[in-house]
Amino acid sequence: MCGIVGFSGTREAAAVLIDGLRRLEYRGYDSAGIAVCDGERINVAKVKGYVKNLAEMTHDGADIRGFVGIGHTRWATHGAPNDVNAHPHLSSDGRFAVVHNGIIENYALLRQELTERGYKFLSDTDTEVVAHLLELYYAGDMKKAIMKTAARLEGSYSLGVVCLDGSGRLFAMREQSPLILGLGVGENYFASDVAALVPHTKNVIYLEDGEFAELTPEGMTVYDVTGHEVKKPVSRVAWDVEAAEKGGYEHFMLKEIMEQPACFKATVEPRIKNDRIVFEDFDLTDGELKSIDKIIITACGSAGYAGQVGRYVIEELCRVPVTVELASELRYRNPIIDEKTLLIVISQSGETADTIAALKECKSRGARVLAIVNVVGSTIAKLADHVIYTWAGPEIAVATTKGYTTQVAVLDMLAIYLADRLGRMDSVTYERLITALHDMPGKMQRAIDLNRNVKKLAKRLSHHNDIYFIGRNMDYAVCMEGALKLKEISYIFAEAYAAGELKHGTIALVEQGSLVVTLACYEPLFDKTMSNIEEVKARGAQVLAVAPEDNKKIVSKADDFLPVPRTEPIFTPLAQIIPLQLFAYYVAKERGCDIDKPKNLAKSVTVE
Ligand code: G6P
Repeated sequence: MCGIVGFSGTREAAAVLIDGLRRLEYRGYDSAGIAVCDGERINVAKVKGYVKNLAEMTHDGADIRGFVGIGHTRWATHGAPNDVNAHPHLSSDGRFAVVHNGIIENYALLRQELTERGYKFLSDTDTEVVAHLLELYYAGDMKKAIMKTAARLEGSYSLGVVCLDGSGRLFAMREQSPLILGLGVGENYFASDVAALVPHTKNVIYLEDGEFAELTPEGMTVYDVTGHEVKKPVSRVAWDVEAAEKGGYEHFMLKEIMEQPACFKATVEPRIKNDRIVFEDFDLTDGELKSIDKIIITACGSAGYAGQVGRYVIEELCRVPVTVELASELRYRNPIIDEKTLLIVISQSGETADTIAALKECKSRGARVLAIVNVVGSTIAKLADHVIYTWAGPEIAVATTKGYTTQVAVLDMLAIYLADRLGRMDSVTYERLITALHDMPGKMQRAIDLNRNVKKLAKRLSHHNDIYFIGRNMDYAVCMEGALKLKEISYIFAEAYAAGELKHGTIALVEQGSLVVTLACYEPLFDKTMSNIEEVKARGAQVLAVAPEDNKKIVSKADDFLPVPRTEPIFTPLAQIIPLQLFAYYVAKERGCDIDKPKNLAKSVTVE
């Protein structure tokens, strides 16, 4: 949720921290702040709102001097988003400043205890207890103070601490929230995400839960929970700084929509070798594969909707029962799971708290876990038995686009791979689908090109306050993601309904002028969907159809039309979602919404 960053070097820290916060702002944008140590004192600047407000207030950091510091961009959990609750938080004696991502679950008890000991709290946050605990436990040895403090904390946290000690010391600690160290030359860093590190270094260390690190300009030392030094491997980040910049687009979301054909290619092509699908980290024996009697897909948000597409495709090709479960529900159910269950966990960030909890719960019951994840080295990637990475590159816009389509791409490949391994697909079909996979980047590009004028349509339809999405089978799965895109970024009430269910309730809401987006790409049920169009039109609805570009029948019936290129049927969602993403984007733009940073949302939901 929140983003944290830290710097220790021999140049001014504030500008580096503010730049880092800009790159982490997708994680939360209720307030931003930095604390920098100048050797004499810790100087803090923090303000409600975007990082740009902090940059303005500090003249891009020029007002805050010092070579070591920490920064924070917030998605509020405890306490309103205001200047006082903004991080960093200082200890009473001003010796420690703290930034935090996560939730300290026992903060109320700690706050009471510390208050009784005479500590004065200034904010409503859970984080402030950490600053006071450090003060309480500090007796000249910072390492001990960190360990004693960590031992008192329950919940999830990645913490950055700057300590007024010598010329300023920098610490970072991790427990169930992402934290990555960056190794530079004469300076070192930490951040919640590599996006803030790549402008400076591609050499990173992923901290594990319970570990903490001390950073100086010359180096860094990592310790385990007992204070013993740990030798950590250094990893190389695979992408360049440009990948996390807008590259001339007005918004990250638009850039990421346009990147989808290339991301599909990057995800799919390296896994087709000699016309066969090869998953290097998912090579079960025939016996292991045949023992799988059901598949559960679990995820949150769009990743769950990618799973909905996957369900149709896997069941169709593999004839193995698949259910899709919201991670936030699955984690608290008493699910029927054993060694014969394959759990597919989908997550762009690899850090979503509910998804992690569902994974752990199912794993403890014996499920074999396959993760489909975008962020290398993330928690979900580490916890799973097998990982298939989507190679979408950094996704910055809060509303996912390329994350979703690359997840669907992996699920499609997985369905083909499993069907083949299970002996449920003939070689002719296999070859045809492999050829079709190679064609998909071109089809996705055509979906973009065909819908370049969606902007005009969006302008005309942007006044609607509620929009219904209907479809059947895979069209219905895509409706869910299309409706979510629209509601996330335009704040229009938008909901997906299985077209056949309309008459059991929702049609009561349809009236003169209601907008019904109808997805009609799934050929076997096309006539049924056409009947649903008739039903809603008979009640005065306006229909925006999403259908194959050459489908004349629907053009004559619908009021407006978003064309989709024809593809191999199971791959249609990959092309079909693109006009809906563009429609959501331009409707939100027309309504003046902050597209990359929608209100109340955050990209990486690391708290429950
Ligand atoms: C948030 C994001 C969504 C995303 C969901 C799951 O709600 O705004 O775009 O689909 O989290 O995130 P994950 O990183 O697990 O895919």
